[in-house]
Amino acid sequence: MTEKEWVIEAEGLTRRFKKVTAVDGLDLRVARGEIFGLLGPDGAGKTTTIRMLCAIMDPDAGAARVAGFDTVRQPEEIKKRIGYMAQQFSLYGDLTVLENLVFFADIFGVGREERKERIAALLAFARLTEFQDRRAAHLSGGMQKKLALACTLIHRPEVIFLDEPTTGVDPVSRREFWDILTELHLEGVTLFVSTPYMDEAERCSRIALMFEGQVIVCDSPEHIRGLVEGKLLELRPDRLRDASHLLQALPQVLEVQVYGDLLHVFVRDVDAGRAAVETALGQAGIRVEALRLTRPRMEQAFISLIRRRQK
Ligand SMILES: Nc1ncnc2c1ncn2[C@@H]1O[C@H](COP(=O)(O)OP(=O)(O)O)[C@@H](O)[C@H]1O
Ligand SMILES: [Mg+2]
Repeated sequence: MTEKEWVIEAEGLTRRFKKVTAVDGLDLRVARGEIFGLLGPDGAGKTTTIRMLCAIMDPDAGAARVAGFDTVRQPEEIKKRIGYMAQQFSLYGDLTVLENLVFFADIFGVGREERKERIAALLAFARLTEFQDRRAAHLSGGMQKKLALACTLIHRPEVIFLDEPTTGVDPVSRREFWDILTELHLEGVTLFVSTPYMDEAERCSRIALMFEGQVIVCDSPEHIRGLVEGKLLELRPDRLRDASHLLQALPQVLEVQVYGDLLHVFVRDVDAGRAAVETALGQAGIRVEALRLTRPRMEQAFISLIRRRQK
């Protein structure tokens, strides 16, 4: 076994804004070639973390190394080796797709000979070849994200940071964007992606769940699902709120979560739990449709882990 090569290493990384500790003693390591997901709700500290790792913002405490360089002492070395797609990235709306790529090639000093081939490849890669003469402002949201990604890749970075690249994009474009990220991953690029969407976390090799500036857990998606205590029953009762209150109070039930018209009930033991649930609801005259055992999904794992922490 060869030693893992850590491309991103953070220790005790901390950043405060007045009273808010946006990032609070973050420890993190990402190996070369991973797709690493930073998952958390708004305000969790994802953007602040990424800015510090990209050497755009200094930490108040702690340190980080990216591609082997210290973010505070060697920011220029890092900037040459990484790509950063900000949450509010800016393309030039008046420039065409092609002109935007040329512009970024200039900024990153990509030579004349190299750039023609590279731009053609990136256009194909981002599925934008036939739109190369369209102004960026006239592209759909999903296409703008792909163009921003292509611009981020113009200098062939070894690590790319993407801050919520699919937020606000329709589901089909989101999937396509992730297909493109997967292709990059297969080429060996290290990807560090933040997202508020739990389903996207499933496409990462490892994820860190971030909440209030801290990493609650960092592991593979599978392991995180496995951390959720108990077994999960899913049911659709006709009186959702009554059923939820009632079940919460049962000793066999660990936790109840509401999803639309569904209840997700974590029980310690499937048979005893199911029996207790059926009896309690039956006695209260609550009718149940579709009671079944199911596998916890990412959002259930996440909510459950945060709740347990707050207890
Ligand atoms: N420049 C800033 N000035 C003051 N507070 C900030 C600043 N940037 C972020 N914060 C605060 O830090 C916390 C984390 O923000 P952020 O890193 O943007 O989280 P996320 O990207 O996960 O939504 C939030 O409470 C936010 O209000
Ligand atoms: Mg953010």
